[in-house]
Amino acid sequence: MNLYERIPNNVNLSEDKKLQRALEKWLPNYLDWWQQMGPDGFQQKDVYLRTAISVEPDGWANFDFVKMPDYRWGIFLKPAQPDAKIGFGDNYGQPAYQEVPGEFRNSLRRIIVTQGDTEPASVEQQRELGKTCPSLYDLRNLFQVNVEEGRHLWAMVYLLQRYFGRDGRDEADALLERRSGNPDKPRILEAFNQPCDDWLNFFCFTMFTDRDGKYQLSALAESGFEPLARTCQFMLTEEAHHMFVGDTGLNRVVKRTAQLMKEGDVRELGGIPLDIIQKHINFWFSYSLDLFGGEISSNSADFFAAGLKGRYKEQEQYEDHIVAEQNFMMKVVEEGQLKEREVAMRNALNEVLRTEYVRDCEKGLARWNKTLADEGISERLFLPGSRFHRHVGEYAGHHFDIEGNLISAEEFEQRKAEWLPTMADREYVRSLMHPVVDPGKIANWIAPPATGIKGKPFEFEYVRL
Ligand SMILES: [Fe+2]
Ligand SMILES: [Fe+2]
Repeated sequence: MNLYERIPNNVNLSEDKKLQRALEKWLPNYLDWWQQMGPDGFQQKDVYLRTAISVEPDGWANFDFVKMPDYRWGIFLKPAQPDAKIGFGDNYGQPAYQEVPGEFRNSLRRIIVTQGDTEPASVEQQRELGKTCPSLYDLRNLFQVNVEEGRHLWAMVYLLQRYFGRDGRDEADALLERRSGNPDKPRILEAFNQPCDDWLNFFCFTMFTDRDGKYQLSALAESGFEPLARTCQFMLTEEAHHMFVGDTGLNRVVKRTAQLMKEGDVRELGGIPLDIIQKHINFWFSYSLDLFGGEISSNSADFFAAGLKGRYKEQEQYEDHIVAEQNFMMKVVEEGQLKEREVAMRNALNEVLRTEYVRDCEKGLARWNKTLADEGISERLFLPGSRFHRHVGEYAGHHFDIEGNLISAEEFEQRKAEWLPTMADREYVRSLMHPVVDPGKIANWIAPPATGIKGKPFEFEYVRL
């Protein structure tokens, strides 16, 4: 097999011998990791998958049956813009960085490693899910997400190996050594150490946690370090499908629950009660909010000043790209009370990005609530307040109710079971998870999708078992 066949790319890999050697050394370790930590029990099955083959807006992907270990994890960057400029921060308007600027080397490596670490982590979290798939359509979507997260790891490893020399290669190896949920060598971010072992968790994860990925990638797609910007721009193309899986997955669960509510007791009928869905939303939404980092952050200010990480749609949405003078009002806990504080805008950029994210999540909630309304159900789902159940930032270490009001630790403890999935809730959900693998059949707790994949019907045999 020639090089392009093994590692499809648009980065001129065959010309760069040093990078080629580094990647070829990393490839077998990656494949070992995939066998050990990728989807368990399905490695030899033919799956109807989308593979990235170029970056052309139309025709960038090819759909066909592939065995997952044979998936062609490629390296694709959006084409370079010859006179790209740094779009924000202290060096606004200067030529974009084509190599890593020495003074920002550590910051940039940290950004790339932190993003890179999430990609294999999610594959690890989802490793067992295939065994309890609600349909072949869903099974295929799970595997599509998994192989693309694998490709995103490749994208980050490319940057590390190409631009960071020896320590980049070490970081690339370490990305295959950490393990989601492992107490000795956990993944870097906590949401990526949480178990994701049933499909309700999976849909919440792809809705809320992959959506954090969209916002992080969007902020990095603005980066003045051009290779990073171009890499993230292309990853976003794939990421849209992951959020689609979560958003429509939850919508289908909500729809089925609503149908069963009209027939009788949802539990007795084998569905997922609305309050359990709400608790899962609360859990994953709050963990995903943590991924944006502290509300007040000198890192966010430094990354912005250096032109490394911008705001969501920096060029489209904003006129002032320097942001030296503006301030941001936020609530912080002081002497046991919530008080307003004025923060320099550059230090509040994590919160600014988080606010964009929350707005996007609300659209999902509106869709699911429309489904409830269409089914004639009066109950509604909602997002918890952003201070609820936080482990990172200003609100970590304090307790808030579901609306974001400050409460005591005792009260939180007493009411926790109203707001977050209990052991019994999790066990109940797990008790519903039985594989349904006949083409065209679907589990009882979820409604079928409105359409299939790539014009194929729902009944199509998306995975050949
Ligand atoms: Fe990803
Ligand atoms: Fe993703």
